[in-house]
Amino acid sequence: MATTQVIAPEKNAASNSERVPDPCVVVIFGASGDLTKRKLLPALYHLEQANLLPKDFAVLGVARRALETTFAPDMKEGIIAGGGVEESEAQLGPFVDRVQYFAMNFDDGDGYDALKKKLAELDGKFNTQGNRLFYLATAPEYFSDIINYLGEHKMAQPEKDKDGKTPWVHTIIEKPFGHDLESARALNDEVNKVFHEDQIFRIDHYLGKETVQNILVFRFANSIFESVWNRNYIDHVEITAAESIGIEGRGPFYEQAGALRDVVQNHVMELLSFVAMEPPISFQSEAVRVEKVKVWKAINPIKLEDTVRGQYGPSTIGGKAVPGYREEDRVSPESQTETFAALRLEIDNWRWAGVPFYIRAGKRLEKRVTEITIQFKQPPMHLFQGGECHNTEAVEPNLISMRIQPDEGISLRFGAKLPGPSMDLSPVQMNFSYADAFGKSSANGYERLLLDAMLGDGTLFTHRDGVEATWALMTPVLKAWKENPLKDLPNYAAGTWGPEAADELLASQGRKWRKL
Ligand code: BG6
Repeated sequence: MATTQVIAPEKNAASNSERVPDPCVVVIFGASGDLTKRKLLPALYHLEQANLLPKDFAVLGVARRALETTFAPDMKEGIIAGGGVEESEAQLGPFVDRVQYFAMNFDDGDGYDALKKKLAELDGKFNTQGNRLFYLATAPEYFSDIINYLGEHKMAQPEKDKDGKTPWVHTIIEKPFGHDLESARALNDEVNKVFHEDQIFRIDHYLGKETVQNILVFRFANSIFESVWNRNYIDHVEITAAESIGIEGRGPFYEQAGALRDVVQNHVMELLSFVAMEPPISFQSEAVRVEKVKVWKAINPIKLEDTVRGQYGPSTIGGKAVPGYREEDRVSPESQTETFAALRLEIDNWRWAGVPFYIRAGKRLEKRVTEITIQFKQPPMHLFQGGECHNTEAVEPNLISMRIQPDEGISLRFGAKLPGPSMDLSPVQMNFSYADAFGKSSANGYERLLLDAMLGDGTLFTHRDGVEATWALMTPVLKAWKENPLKDLPNYAAGTWGPEAADELLASQGRKWRKL
C-alpha cells in the first residue's frame, strides 16, 4: 500500500536542457570488463533517452583483446539486459552505431599515438570537437601507465584547435584509488603531474545513487530536522552496508582488498560524511568538499578495540550449500582477509561529540540492505508509566531510517497511543517510498556521474584531500589488523549478520544494531 503522496509538481523537463554537455567522445579504458557492459553503457543510453547527451557524441571502448566486431553488439546486449530497454526502441540502433572499439596494450607507449589518430578520426566522423571524457576502468595497476602516457602524448592538455578553441579533457578514475594512505598519495602525485585537479573525477558510484544525494536534501532543504540533528537529541548513528552475495569470482581482487578497503574507506565514509557534515555555504563542488573533509578530519583515530573483523564460513542458504570464503576460487585456505568489518567512530566536533557512529559492511550477510539509522534519545522523563500505562517497555526511541537500497526510502518511528481506555503505547512508523512517490527507475547511478563528469561538475566526486583523509583513518586499522591476525577465522556463517563481536561492540555500550 502506498504511504507517500507527491505534492510537488513533477520535474520540469525543460530544466534538463541546461545540463547537456558539449560534443565529446567517452573513451573507456578496460572496456572489455563487466562494468562497461553492465553499468556504463546502460547509463549512457539512459542519458540518451533523457535527451541529456550531446547530438555529436561517440563512445570508444579500449582494451587489449581484438573485439572490433563483437564490442558494439555486446554492448547493445548489455543495454537491453541491464538498462530495462526494449530491442525495438528507435533510439537504440543509432546509439549503438556510435559505439566504437580500439585494441591496445595500456603499457605500450606506441599504442597511444595510434589511439590519438583514432580519436581524431572519430572527431571527423562524429563532429566531437576534440573533447574527451577518459574513463579508467582497468585494473588499478594500469592507472599510472595510462595517465603518464596520456600526458606524454599530449592527450591530457590539448592545444587550441584551428578556431582558437581549447577542447576539454576530463578523466574519471575508478576505485580503488590506492590501497593505503601512501599509495593513494603517490597516485595523486602522479595524476596531478598530468591533470589539473579540476580535470580529475575520482568516482564512487554510491554518490550517484538518488538516495545518497537525497540525504543532503532531507537535511538541508527541510527545516524540521536540522534543529535536532546533533548530540543534544541523537543517541547514536548506525550505518549498515550489507550484501548477501559473496565475492562473485573476484578472489584475487578481494584477497588484496577486504571489506575495509573495498566498501568502508569509500562508500561508507561517503555516507557518513553526508549524514554528519555541516551545511555547506552552497551546493558548489568546493563548498561541499570542504565540509566533507572536515568531518573525516574530525574523526578520532580508531582504536583496535573499536574494530571488528570477520570472515564468512560455509553454510546452507535456502537449501543450497554455500562455500566459506577460504573455499572460494583463488583464495588462500589460510586467508586473513576480512569479508566483514565493523567500527565504532567518534566525530570530535561541536555537533557530534559523544555520539557514537557504528558502521558495518560485509559480504554473505543475511540480506542485501544499505541503511542509515539515526536513533534519538529517549524523552527526559517517563511520563507514561504506572497508573493506567501498562506497557512502558513499548516506549521505543524515535528513529529516522534512510534506506539507501533496496526499497529506497525514509521512515520515521515514533510512539502512539494504543486505542482503548488506558494510556498504553505502541511504536508506529511513517514511510516514504521512492518507488511509490516517483515510480520505479532503471537508473543505476552512473548516469548522473557520467553526465557531471562531462559537464565538469565535481560536486559528487572525491577530491585529493578527501581520498587521503579517509585513507588516513583506515590505514592504521589495516596495520593493526595485520599485526594482530585472528585465530578464529572464519567467525561467522554465510547468511548471518556477521561475527558476535559486532553485536558486542554495541552491547558494551548498552545498545544493539537495529533489526533490518
Ligand atoms: C563495489 C565493491 O564498489 O561496490 C563491490 O567493489 C560491492 O564489492 C559493490 O559489491 C556494492 O555496490 P552496490 O551498488 O551493489 O551496493
